[in-house]
Parts: sequence; structure tokens; C-alpha cells
Amino acid sequence: MSEGTAKKEERPKFQAIRGTRDLLPPETSLWNHVEQTAHEMFATYGFGEIRPPIFESTDLFARAVGGETDIVSKEMYTFEPKLEFLREHFRSIDDAMHNESSLLRVLQLVAVFSGSLTRALILKQTVDNRETVQLSDELEHHVSVSIARWNRGEHEPDQKWREWLSRAEQILWSIDLGVRESLRPEGTAGVCRAYIEHNMNQLPQPVKLYYVGPMFRRERPQKGRYRQFYQIGAEVLGGSEAPAIDAEVIEMVMTFFARLGLEGVELDINCIGDKKCRPKYVELLRAELRKVKDKLGADSQRRIETNPLRMLDSKLENEQKLIEGLPHIADHLCDECAENYRGVKKELELRGVKYRENWRLVRGLDYYSRTTFEITAKGLGSQNAVCGGGRYDGLMELLGGPPTRATGFAIGEDRLILSLQEAGKTPAAQGRDVYIAWMGEKAYATAIHAAKNLHAAGLSVELPPVEQKFGKALGQADKLGARYALILGDNELASGEWTLKTLASGEQAKFKEADLLDLLRKSKAVSS
Ligand code: HAM
Repeated sequence: MSEGTAKKEERPKFQAIRGTRDLLPPETSLWNHVEQTAHEMFATYGFGEIRPPIFESTDLFARAVGGETDIVSKEMYTFEPKLEFLREHFRSIDDAMHNESSLLRVLQLVAVFSGSLTRALILKQTVDNRETVQLSDELEHHVSVSIARWNRGEHEPDQKWREWLSRAEQILWSIDLGVRESLRPEGTAGVCRAYIEHNMNQLPQPVKLYYVGPMFRRERPQKGRYRQFYQIGAEVLGGSEAPAIDAEVIEMVMTFFARLGLEGVELDINCIGDKKCRPKYVELLRAELRKVKDKLGADSQRRIETNPLRMLDSKLENEQKLIEGLPHIADHLCDECAENYRGVKKELELRGVKYRENWRLVRGLDYYSRTTFEITAKGLGSQNAVCGGGRYDGLMELLGGPPTRATGFAIGEDRLILSLQEAGKTPAAQGRDVYIAWMGEKAYATAIHAAKNLHAAGLSVELPPVEQKFGKALGQADKLGARYALILGDNELASGEWTLKTLASGEQAKFKEADLLDLLRKSKAVSS
């Protein structure tokens, strides 16, 4: 093998991880435009920006989104605390005891447990765990002695190893193993946690918050579906149950899409009842589904027991006919929910927001009640939901907060951008306003001074770091799409008049510095 080939093979090759991607210019200017529009528009509806952390305790998401949902059970990026393996050890001891394994086996597992515990804690020796280290050390010693006796045929009474086990358990609970943390798969749970933590219920209600940022779900990547994706979300917390609140957030997101020129926008709405009427409907659905269980796939069969509502958004071809025959929730709403749903529809009509009722819209998160909605747009293929949301009146209490009514939505920003791009709304490549072609040391000092003033006037400037012949410099200016070339050479310095060349027409003229700055400033104002 030649040296060259060997070197080539050694060169590392890094790529963005599957499901993640780099957002690059000029596309990022479209992202900035979308986010800027959200900042401006949401403020006009009274929303303030919140920036919660990107990771939170795993339990928060399990509680809020639901432990049985795909998002929590399959898709979260979770980090175990460093000492989490001790819990695993302990579980294996517990299993061994419950399965009536031999005492020797149990003792061996306890010895492994206490040995690992001692080593782990010694590494993290603090005043708080010094006592635990000592207890764990003693436990390991006693258990080793017991094992040695066992090997000599001296068996200890059952009660003895029960003592070891309870000692091990005591030690386990006396140390802080830390909490499991997950990258946020969505934003609502963190916003509610923050509302409770900062006692925002004492502020004038409702509190209106919005957020922009990355979310993480370990889904199968495809067009419009990523493992790191971005959401623009908004939540109205602590208002009443007035249908006007639901309708106003829907109106806001529809107006936002219209302002961006999003095409083929369609809004689906549904009412999924509340904790009074939904359980009865879910039972009815379960009973109906059990009757046809044999005709369903394994996933759907499992859903009958865990979350039959989710069956309604099955995309499987062979399940469609069957689903169409299932009872509709609209026929099983309690009077309050039905009244509220009528109110939401009336409010949407008052605001001129067109909608379609979709009784199969149930959403993939557990916290919703009453109104839910989804918005689709053109050019996205199968992943065409560009926004999802709804009311979640019970969530705050579930997270330990005061009873709080709430509603909101999240836009999938990646999909929004994709749809805008498919419709040809791509930003122009970012050119430069001025390319400074300089020659000579003195001209360089003047060029630096000119660049500073041009930057301050808000113009984009390219100042080449090394001297170039004028011909090459002008070629470079062309390639970068510059509008003007400012030429600074001996003549310009001697006369105090600078040459400005308009690259599109090839015209050039001389100006005093102040006049030139004035002209460029004005031309920028006209073009932007
Ligand atoms: P969601 O329906 O799970 O709701 O997500 C909202 C939007 O995020 C989806 O409609 C979609 O556009 C986008 N999205 C979701 N997963 C991906 C992915 N893997 N790749 C690209 N885009 C994705 C929520 O997250 C709720 N927190 C919304 C909400 C806020 N409800 C009330 N308040």
C-alpha cells in the first residue's frame, strides 16, 4: 500500500447524524424571516417569549405527554444518572429473591451490588455519602463471610439474607442516584413546569407564552421528519374555558401562515371530550374494537387496551373500513363539551377562519381535552401536518400545579420552511453591497476606514484581506454578486475622490467620501 493510500484511509470522515442536518445560508435567511415574523406577530396578540431548557427530567415528559405514547415510550433521548446501574443491580437481587433462586445466588448478587456501590461512592466521596460508604463496606464484608461459610456447608437462616437485602435497599435509597433526564420531545410540558415553578398563576391571567427552538424525537427519518426538528409554539395558560380563547390562537396561527404566504393550508378540528365524558366513549370504543380484534394488526391490538383512541388515526389501508364504522365521539360528548365545541366553531366563523371537522383527529399526546386541531399544508407528502395543538385543561394539575385551563399549538418549523420552499419562496442568495478593491499599503488603510463606515451604515461589505490586481478583484466582486465595487488605488488617494463602479452596468464615477457614503446609504434604503 502506498503512503498516499494509507493516509487517505486514516482520514476521519464525520457526517451529521441520521435525522439531523445543517441549516445553511441562504436557507437560514428564510428561517430567520419566519422566526422574525413570529416574534412580531405573536407580540401583537400579547404573547411574550419563553426560553425553557432543552432537557428536563424524564418523568416530566412521561407524566405530561403520557408513558404509553410513542413519543415517551420509544422516541426520547434519555440520559441515565451515573449511578443508575445500581438500581439495575438491585432489581436483579429482587428478581432472584422473588423467583426463589438459591440463597447462594442471592448472596452473590448482594456482594456484587455492595462492591459496586462502595467503589462508586468512594469515587464520589463526599461528606454526605461517607456513612453510606461505611455501611456498604460492612455489608460487602458480611456477605463475603456468609458466602465463605456457605461454601463450607454452613448455611445461614433465611432471615439473615432478608436482613442483607433490606440493608442493601436502605443504602440504595439513602444515596442520591440522580434523576433521569431527557432532551425535550416537545415544548408544552416544560412551559407548564415553568408556569408552576415561577408561580405565574399570580400574574394577570391568562399568561401567553411562545417559544422557538429544537425538539428531539428518535423517529424514523423521512421527508419532513427529523430527529432534531424545530418548533414554534404558543401556549395560553390560566385563562377561562371560553371558546374565544381556542379560536383566537387558531386565528393567530392561520394569520401567521397567511402572512408567510404558505399555500394549501387546511385546518382540521375536533372535540375529544373531557375527563367526564371521554372515559365512557373510550370504553365504548374499546368494546367495539374487541369485537374485531382478530382483524387487526399486533400494534392495533395492543392499542385496544392501552389507548383505543389512537386507533382512530391508524393509516393502515386494511383498517380504514373498520374504523369508519366505529362510534363518533361527537355523539357521546357531555352537554358542557358539546356546548363548548359549538362555541369554538361559532367563534372561528366570526373570525372568518375556515375549518373542517374531523372526528378521527385524536393527536399523539395524552394531555388534550375538548378542542384539538391540526393544520396541513401543500408540498409535504405524507408528513403534511405543519401544526398541531389543542386544549389541555388538566395538565397543570397533573404536574402538581393549581387547576389551570390552557390551550396552545406548535408549528413544525422544518415542514413550514419545506412547504414555503416547494412553493418557490426561496430567498435570494445573499450578495454584497460593496466590494472594496484596493491596491497599495496606503489604500489598504483607507479601505479599512471605508469598510467601517459602510458597515455602520448597514451595508454588507467584502474587504479582501490581501492585495489583488484590480482585474482579479473585480472578477471576485462579480462572483460574490456585489452591486458596487469601490476602487481605491494611488489615483484615488492622491485626488481624494474615490471610484465607484456599478457592476451590473459597468458605469463608474468618482465621489468624495461623504457623497459616496450618502449615495450608497440611499441606494440601500431603496433596495431593501
Ligand atoms: P405535535 O403534533 O407532536 O404537538 O407536534 C407539533 C408539530 O411539530 C407537528 O405538527 C409537526 O409539524 C412537527 N413535528 C413533530 N415531530 C416532528 C419531526 N420528527 N420532524 C419534523 N417535524 C415534527 C406537540 O408537540 C404539542 N406540544 C403541541 C401543542 C402545544 N399542543 C398544545 N400546545
